[in-house]
Amino acid sequence: MELISGKIKETREQVKEWKRQGFTVGLVPTMGYLHEGHKSLMEAAKKENDKVAVSIFVNPIQFGPKEDFASYPRDFDRDAALCESVGVDLIFHPVAGEMYGEDFCTYVDMDGLTKELCGKSRPTHFRGVQTVVSKLFHIIPADRAYFGQKDAQQLAVIKRMARDLSMDIEIVGCPIIREEDGLAKSSRNTYLNKEERQAALVLNRSLAEGKKLIEAGVRDAAQIKQRIEETIGQEKLAKIDYVELVDFADITPIGNLSKAKEGEVLCAIAVFIGKTRLIDNFIWKGFGD
Ligand code: PAF
Repeated sequence: MELISGKIKETREQVKEWKRQGFTVGLVPTMGYLHEGHKSLMEAAKKENDKVAVSIFVNPIQFGPKEDFASYPRDFDRDAALCESVGVDLIFHPVAGEMYGEDFCTYVDMDGLTKELCGKSRPTHFRGVQTVVSKLFHIIPADRAYFGQKDAQQLAVIKRMARDLSMDIEIVGCPIIREEDGLAKSSRNTYLNKEERQAALVLNRSLAEGKKLIEAGVRDAAQIKQRIEETIGQEKLAKIDYVELVDFADITPIGNLSKAKEGEVLCAIAVFIGKTRLIDNFIWKGFGD
């Protein structure tokens, strides 16, 4: 590891020095409490770049007032050891005051893409994500940045932000990593007790039911949505926040899957298991349908 720093200036200097030497840089933005999902992003970054930087920052401005900012799991030593084991070259882990001065008042926001899915129940979330990711891109001027498909709406939003604001960075999406029994890896899985952990399997199970309908030729989004909702409804600890099928190109509702502008449909769900809100999804690529 060449640098572990909480300071913007020092981090930027290190990355600039790498660029002066002609190295390519991959950035993996995280909120820490790293798991196999993050590890897969770091490994992808390692393969495609000379240097890998990981940011670890639980970003207060992407949490709503009643959300889990205070209780979000944190373990910097464990995270640093995992980064070390993958061969990460730099960890940037600022405190909130380093990122947001007392008079901070500039945000990055978007008209489209953020209104549906998580944007409905978390109205200020994506503004917070876009703002922090923009800051990270300025602090760590990487060639590529890596995001997981588990947060599919976030991935679409960041790709669009980078495109709309002409950011000189490639956004790379990486597949969802799952536990052996199918639960998508998430730092929030640690909130689940034994019974809830078992109940959480309904997310992946319900998506599989949706996929089955598509494979059988169903293209009516309402029918697929209904099957997924019914499956979730069978689990007594589960409460649906949303089940939606949207055009992945612009995250707008879609009626018939064959009408997706670029041939891709995102089927996304958010479900409370007890008090824990979990998300999962699949992307259907219907080219030539
Ligand atoms: O996906 C996350 O962990 C966060 O939303 C991100 C992209 C690191 C921004 O805080």
